[in-house]
Amino acid sequence: MEIAVIRVILLGLISGLTNGAGVLPDGPLNATVGGTVTLTTTLTPTENPVFSVIWRFGDKNIITLTNTNTTAPEYEGRITLFIYTGSLELRNLALSDSGEYTVTILPHGAAELVGRTTLNVYEPIDSVRAEANSTDLVELSSVRLSCSSSGSSLSFLWMNGSSEVTASDRVHLTDGGSTLTITNVLCYDQGPFRCNVSNPVSDGTSDTINLIISYGPENTNLKLSPSQEYFEKGSNISLSCSAVSRPEAHFNWFLNGEELPDTGPELRLVNVQESGNYSCRASNIKTLRSETSVQSRVSVLGASITSSPNLPSEGNSVNLTCDAVGPSITRKWMKDGSDLSLADNMMFYDVNRVLSFQPLKKTDGGEYSCHVSNTINTVEARYIMVVNYGPENVQIKGDNETQRGQTFTLTCSAESEPSASYTWILNGKEIYSSAVYTKSAEPSDSGNYTCQVMNSVTMRSSSKVHGLTVTAGGGLSAGAIAAIIITCLIVTAASAAGGYYIYKKKVNNKPQLNNTVQLQQPNQEHVYENASLVYENV
Ligand SMILES: *[C@@H]1O[C@H](CO)[C@@H](O)[C@H](O)[C@H]1NC(C)=O
Ligand SMILES: *[C@@H]1O[C@H](CO)[C@@H](O)[C@H](O)[C@H]1NC(C)=O
Ligand SMILES: *[C@@H]1O[C@H](CO)[C@@H](O)[C@H](O)[C@H]1NC(C)=O
Ligand SMILES: *[C@@H]1O[C@H](CO)[C@@H](O)[C@H](O)[C@H]1NC(C)=O
Repeated sequence: MEIAVIRVILLGLISGLTNGAGVLPDGPLNATVGGTVTLTTTLTPTENPVFSVIWRFGDKNIITLTNTNTTAPEYEGRITLFIYTGSLELRNLALSDSGEYTVTILPHGAAELVGRTTLNVYEPIDSVRAEANSTDLVELSSVRLSCSSSGSSLSFLWMNGSSEVTASDRVHLTDGGSTLTITNVLCYDQGPFRCNVSNPVSDGTSDTINLIISYGPENTNLKLSPSQEYFEKGSNISLSCSAVSRPEAHFNWFLNGEELPDTGPELRLVNVQESGNYSCRASNIKTLRSETSVQSRVSVLGASITSSPNLPSEGNSVNLTCDAVGPSITRKWMKDGSDLSLADNMMFYDVNRVLSFQPLKKTDGGEYSCHVSNTINTVEARYIMVVNYGPENVQIKGDNETQRGQTFTLTCSAESEPSASYTWILNGKEIYSSAVYTKSAEPSDSGNYTCQVMNSVTMRSSSKVHGLTVTAGGGLSAGAIAAIIITCLIVTAASAAGGYYIYKKKVNNKPQLNNTVQLQQPNQEHVYENASLVYENV
């Protein structure tokens, strides 16, 4: 602004002078501090010197040459007057020499001539320096570049690469152009910036300033390689993530929205088995911003069978759904290795996609497979259907009558999938929880035994009742006990004697009603040397 005003004023002076410059050329004349300038008149020299000359600077005389010859003391030694033309040389110029000079000349034998011009003395430009308050910037922050230089009447010009910086809503030039402020710095503003300083007598350029602008990430993009719509099972796929960012972005990976431990711009999938949605997130440690790519679907050709959430229990309605990935799919169902023939309780929905059992039968259990063919290959999914049922057909095996002291066994069985749990109830009281109940009979064991069978999956239960009578007089007879004691004594004696005997081990542990312990078919023989005793029937 100031400079512009000065220029306007100068222009006014120049035009004024042009009109009345007379014997002096159009000004202004520019000169450098310490330099020399000659204010040259338009007079053509003749063989005679001019008659008189008076040079004035503003309203002060510099030199008067008439019949006297007077030089103002401050000009002594630094001016030369050319007496044939009236021109004046000024040396060792100072800033204070700037101003208006007038000359009045009386040439030899001619009319008086007047001239007027302006001299501008400038300090030359030196050591131009440009500085930034920071060169490490984050996008959309601000930066201030300032330019300084020695010299006078400085004009500043900022260069961005090879073009001049012009002001805009985010580029501001202040302090006479010496300060460049960029608000909302963009990634394109990295420069190099230079400052050009000039005045009419010299100019200079600063070193360059490069701004490092951190930005992004932007345009975060995920690419699959190879790039295809469907992949066969077992494929190797490379995913690469890119983003526009400075400094380089860091990358994290996600599968179906869950973060993976992998980092870096590339994710390699080896031996891919399942479809999934992948995405990557780019982060910039300087701008502290991050951006996530859109999800890329990795579609693996394949099929799967899922069962409806209904329990596959006999009588329930159950669906098997064959889902497949791939173009132009056809489906075929098989059961236990043969083509599936639809029974009355089965039907297809959705062009063989859903195999529906309404209701499920026990005989529907088995291995189902769904063969999916697409334009690329055929894949198969298998499903083993276990039909839960029961309990049914509860049965109890065991004696209906036993004697006191005898061991009796009641065995309960039922058909059930999965295996049922068994509870024995005697006269309304739970007494045992397993299928086989064994006990040495006592009179209080008589009664109605209920076997209650429960399937914890079908939540169904069933039961059966069995009557048992324990007759009195039970226990081993005194004779039997005595016989056992005698046996022990004999065996001990035989061993001590070093003899041998063959001991036929009793097989049936059940005490028999005749109160004898029967040693039946031998299934084990102990042979002892030097004794001979065959022991049968106590
Ligand atoms: C005027 O005086 C100066 C010294 O003061 C001298 O150098 C110069 O030659 C004189 N000029 C004339 C024209 O006499
Ligand atoms: C610097 O120049 C680049 C083009 O080279 C431009 O995009 C950018 O806006 C310029 N910046 C300033 C502050 O002039
Ligand atoms: C994956 O994205 C697709 C849409 O592109 C969507 O239908 C599907 O449910 C997504 N899968 C997962 C596991 O998020
Ligand atoms: C089985 O699929 C059919 C057709 O989609 C549907 O109407 C029915 O409710 C499904 N049944 C079960 C048990 O999910």
